[in-house]
Amino acid sequence: MTDASLIEQRLQSYSFYHSIEVLPGVFTAGIERLRPIQEPVLEAIRATPLAGKRVLDIGCRDGLFSFEAERCGASEVIGIDRKLSLGAIEFLIPHLKSQVKMSLVNVMDLTPATFGKFDVVIFAGVLYHLRYPFQVFKVIRDVMIDGGTLIIETGLYRLHEDEALLWCPVGEESPYEPSSVTFFNLKGITDTLRTFGITVQSHRFLSGHQIPHDRCTLVCALHESGIDQRRTRYWNSIEPLP
Ligand SMILES: C[S@@+](CC[C@H](N)C(=O)[O-])C[C@H]1O[C@@H](n2cnc3c(N)ncnc32)[C@H](O)[C@@H]1O
Repeated sequence: MTDASLIEQRLQSYSFYHSIEVLPGVFTAGIERLRPIQEPVLEAIRATPLAGKRVLDIGCRDGLFSFEAERCGASEVIGIDRKLSLGAIEFLIPHLKSQVKMSLVNVMDLTPATFGKFDVVIFAGVLYHLRYPFQVFKVIRDVMIDGGTLIIETGLYRLHEDEALLWCPVGEESPYEPSSVTFFNLKGITDTLRTFGITVQSHRFLSGHQIPHDRCTLVCALHESGIDQRRTRYWNSIEPLP
């Protein structure tokens, strides 16, 4: 048996979400139809200066974005997921001789004490699964350095775009599957992030059409000076407004 056929045989013992090249022309059997959604995130990672940077990949799954960040020069990449990919841990990381670390962590439990602060955070394909979307922005903001970059990929609601909205369909009304319940519109996510000191610098819709919902990749920057500290203390129930 050749090395290539041994590797292909090993790959078959795992179930993969991402298509990741393991030998020239040999990929993990990821979900093909998701590749157009992943491509803008890969482009955003490549466009971000990563040399010597610490990167956090939230909901890393098989590590497509983590490995790309490492390839682009990040000094440390940590992927977290609440369900770790055995294929990534047992096969991909050793096979690719990668230094990416993957940990079983629910993003809602993440604090600066868990892994410290990051220069770049990748938050792709997770937001619409979360029931507590406002809280997650606080969690993410707290683990970013001032001036850090946040790359978000998510489903957005595309109606009533002049109002800041969160569409929260439940059960069969979800456009994906019933665990997907959180869809801001562009103004909703932009304005919400701004209250956390995070500015959306660019966004790119996948279809570009004015359809009820669409995928979008947003590149954002944290500037702590943009946080209204007084109002934030009020929202955090620390002090009343006068
Ligand atoms: C739709 S997949 C997206 C994977 C990858 N980020 C991408 O965009 O291709 C969502 C991933 O997020 C993980 N996830 C969902 N909720 C999470 C949470 N609260 N904390 C950490 N990971 C979570 C899931 O286990 C899954 O691996």
